[in-house]
Amino acid sequence: MATWLVTGANRGIGLEYARQLARVGETVIATARNPAGAAELADLTAANPQLRVEALDLEDRASIIALGHRLEGTPVDVLLNNAGLYGGSWDNASHRQSHDNMDYDLWEQIMRVNVLAPFQMVQVLRASLNAGQRKLIINMSSDLGSITNNTQGQSYAYRSSKAALNMVTKGLSAELAQQGFTVVSMAPGWTQTDLGGASARWPVEESVANQIKVIAGLSAQDNGRFVDLLGRTVPW
Ligand SMILES: NC(=O)c1ccc[n+]([C@@H]2O[C@H](COP(=O)([O-])OP(=O)(O)OC[C@H]3O[C@@H](n4cnc5c(N)ncnc54)[C@H](OP(=O)(O)O)[C@@H]3O)[C@@H](O)[C@H]2O)c1
Repeated sequence: MATWLVTGANRGIGLEYARQLARVGETVIATARNPAGAAELADLTAANPQLRVEALDLEDRASIIALGHRLEGTPVDVLLNNAGLYGGSWDNASHRQSHDNMDYDLWEQIMRVNVLAPFQMVQVLRASLNAGQRKLIINMSSDLGSITNNTQGQSYAYRSSKAALNMVTKGLSAELAQQGFTVVSMAPGWTQTDLGGASARWPVEESVANQIKVIAGLSAQDNGRFVDLLGRTVPW
């Protein structure tokens, strides 16, 4: 059994990871920006003693450092940098990041949450990850982060954040390989969550079940890959 740390576990893909991992007996450190308001996560924790909730605001560097301190001495096998921001739902918020109308404050916020924070998480958790068995870091990216596949434009803030996150993945994969780490970017598919919207292709249960299968099969040979929920390579 492994210990997972899942960020943004109070709703959407992160909550579903916590649910499915707890069901098979994995230990889950589930983070939420506001644990007091995370009712579904609280119910899940009450039913699964191997799940614990930690407060974490990824826009606040001190909050990330504080989590690192709280986890000193706790081995973490898998870090799932899941939490992410689009700035609303895919269905109704794309007008905030188009080429003729950009919310620059939002763009900065997206970069902090989607790029800087996952990087800092690796930094503050290095001792815990070193002490883990699997030494696996998954950065939740997106098909929209693929430069090759960008034939439509739009979503400039989100796309650029996920492309930057992919660069972080690639860099960490090169630097941490010697210490036995496998670092990958995951494209979870267009998934029915607040971010993905109701018309998305994948129900969240199916999306996450597929992702967990892919993650279970990852080995050192996958280090530095950008994979999707079916294990296929996504072009950078
Ligand atoms: N759904 C899709 O179609 C899709 C497709 C491709 C990639 N993704 C990626 O998958 C990941 C999960 O997305 P989702 O669909 O589950 O989105 P979601 O339903 O909107 O959930 C986003 C999660 O991120 C957390 N979060 C946002 N800002 C945060 C902050 N400053 N500090 C801490 N937590 C923060 C949210 O917490 P709060 O509740 O506190 O806001 C929430 O738990 C994201 O990285 C997203 O980019 C999703």
